[in-house]
Amino acid sequence: MSVRGWAAAPWGVRDKLPGIMVAGALALVAGWIAGGLGDPLARNPVLVAMLFGLLLGTCLECPGALRPGIDFTKRYLLRLGVMLLGFRITVVLLADLGIVPITIAAIELVTVLLVVRIVATRVFKLDSGLALLIAVGASICGGAAIMSMAALTRAREQHVGVAITVITLSGTLALLLYPVAFMAGLMPGLDDRSFGITVGASIFELAAVYGASYSVSEGALNVATLVKLSKVVMLVPLLVVFGLIQSRSKPGEAKARVPVPWFVFGFIAVLLFNSVIKVHPQVRRLILEGDQFLFLMVMVSLGLTTSLARLREAGGAWRLIGVGLLAIMVSAGTAYGLVSLAGLNASAGASQRAAPGQPEAAAGSGLAEGGDGARLFSAVGCEKCHVRSLQGSAGDVLLYSDLLLHDMGAALDDKIVQGDATGADWRTTPLIGLGLRQRFLHDGRASTLRAAVLDHGGEGSIVRDRFFELTEADQQAVYRFLSSL
Ligand code: HEC
Repeated sequence: MSVRGWAAAPWGVRDKLPGIMVAGALALVAGWIAGGLGDPLARNPVLVAMLFGLLLGTCLECPGALRPGIDFTKRYLLRLGVMLLGFRITVVLLADLGIVPITIAAIELVTVLLVVRIVATRVFKLDSGLALLIAVGASICGGAAIMSMAALTRAREQHVGVAITVITLSGTLALLLYPVAFMAGLMPGLDDRSFGITVGASIFELAAVYGASYSVSEGALNVATLVKLSKVVMLVPLLVVFGLIQSRSKPGEAKARVPVPWFVFGFIAVLLFNSVIKVHPQVRRLILEGDQFLFLMVMVSLGLTTSLARLREAGGAWRLIGVGLLAIMVSAGTAYGLVSLAGLNASAGASQRAAPGQPEAAAGSGLAEGGDGARLFSAVGCEKCHVRSLQGSAGDVLLYSDLLLHDMGAALDDKIVQGDATGADWRTTPLIGLGLRQRFLHDGRASTLRAAVLDHGGEGSIVRDRFFELTEADQQAVYRFLSSL
């Protein structure tokens, strides 16, 4: 993998075609395997694809003829996939994210960069050039950051390969560890959103960020994407700073061009487009499904070419593994610590919330003196869809519904298309008479109100997240209000 190869334009389709087609075929197989494995793996085809590729790559040597296409998939199709993620996000969601997560990402970046670099040279006695590359990969965005920095500092090619291997391997490990730790309850206090922030701020590989957050929920994916991309943008100022240091220490040399992560601007363009123009839901669905397929291809390719043997080349495999583990621990620890400190996780984990009626309660959500279920119902925005009453011919009709279709996201998607409505589109159920019902949602899957609200994804996800930021006591008040209808 040469440094110059990355900067070169992706021309020359013919030699890439075999690799791309194999990646596509393997992605299909991986998706099919994932579907057959049942939950929770069926919900996580990205992870299955990675493991599948890893298994194949370990057993068989990747044939040279496939190499160009596989490398193309890992680099350019990954970036295309990231750009298309913009269709998941709108300006509203971005504004909802706020400045705190991005600040967290920035602090995490600097901490990891310094700690990993210093420990890798001092404790693990790595070459300082190699240590810098690994530190940059661990703190920003894996392979792409390493290659950009290597282009700037004219790093040794072998170092680039080793650094990328270390970072890819630890990224893979992170992709496996995060969702498992989250679901096993080892990250107390995190909800989907703060988990997304932690993932986006700390996992260094873009593809791994996608996999780890998507395996928890779509909401987590959206947040993680935003935070991660804000971090990728930080690569530009970092490279400028290093470029300045570089040119000061070696004044005679010609300056290397600072590569621009253009796909981030592509992502922003798609995001703006998606905010301004309402894409037909069916088209949007197709795009997102195609996008997920791209990520499957990338994952298979990553797995195929992640060579465990590479570590030995640099000598001292154990030292490199040590640095890789250090990178995971420092970045995960810093991000989790900061998210906890910022109180982003404080409100949602209902399980470990103190007794109901706790007064500091809804601080942060601006709904401090809780209690009144009806008021909270309207304050968090449930009334956006569950409109209290509609004008009928004989006066107002109390409904708690707008009687309109809404895209409710993947959890409620039954994949059945009727006319203009996709499987994820549902008509707001009138909540009037709710107290008389035992089971909720269109297929009666939810037996508690909590479960019914939890399944509100898509257009309802912001309001749902806000609802679960309320204290347990306030949530109960809303449930009581609903049951009284
Ligand atoms: C984006 C629009 C939207 C928002 C916002 C919204 N809902 Fe809903 N709600 C729906 C739709 C659509 C359904 C029907 C989904 C289905 O049947 O699968 C529904 C169903 C429900 C149900 C199940 C009713 C039944 O009998 O099946 C409950 C309970 C509910 N919503 C409560 C809430 C609460 C509480 C909030 C605020 C936290 C809220 N909703 C916010 C659109 C919305």
